[in-house]
Amino acid sequence: IGRDILYFNSIDSTNSKAKQLASDGKGEGTVIISEEQTKGRGRLGRNWVSPKGKGVWMSIIIRPDIQPIDASKITQVTAAAVSKSILELGIKNYIKWPNDIIINNKKVCGILTEMSGELNKINYIVIGIGINVNLDENEIPNDIKDIATSLKIESGKKVSRKQLVANIFNNFEELYEELLNKNEITHSIEICKENSAVLGKEIRVIFRNKEIRGKAVDLTDEGELLIENQEGKIQKIISGEVSIRGV
Ligand code: BTN
Repeated sequence: IGRDILYFNSIDSTNSKAKQLASDGKGEGTVIISEEQTKGRGRLGRNWVSPKGKGVWMSIIIRPDIQPIDASKITQVTAAAVSKSILELGIKNYIKWPNDIIINNKKVCGILTEMSGELNKINYIVIGIGINVNLDENEIPNDIKDIATSLKIESGKKVSRKQLVANIFNNFEELYEELLNKNEITHSIEICKENSAVLGKEIRVIFRNKEIRGKAVDLTDEGELLIENQEGKIQKIISGEVSIRGV
């Protein structure tokens, strides 16, 4: 990962660029990184504010030999890699399952995974990682001030983006190899559990247009979230939008 890095000063979206390059045949491990994005994309069609020089806005192209049904494991691997990498800079952070990283209940990082393939074969996956690194308070738009923050705001110090990216490459590579070699993500799940923002909490999840309420009790070895409802029934969900109640 990261041996082939395409670096841009400005781009619409590193994910869009990565998808285009991947369909043109760009190989496994290619990284697209930009100082700024003019049309950064978030999940659910949202936009992602990506001001110049203030964050890590990057996308990784991978072509894993796994089943499309296992693609959500990539999200857990990525969340674990990023969370560990931030912690290595001395900044405690939490994973809000499945793919947000938060500090003080505000988001510092989002992950947007986009896949292309057929029913039983992945052509490529683009993993988009957006980390608010050195944004100051006044650089966070007013309408998201309550839900977004940066590593600098939370730690009180400027953070080296270079160091952070280097940590992510190393950690991602190690965790991703476990998936490729053993088709397991045990180590990633361990990190996701250790740094979880949701386990043990009462949560509300929107999953397939339905709302599920209950207590987040565990993560499976595959990275699904187990939720226990009031009747004690356990439900397993593979993805969704989580809100932590009372927060
Ligand atoms: C989310 O909604 O939480 C996901 C945000 C993902 C943002 C990153 S920044 C780099 C990459 N390029 C994009 O356009 N989006 C992702």
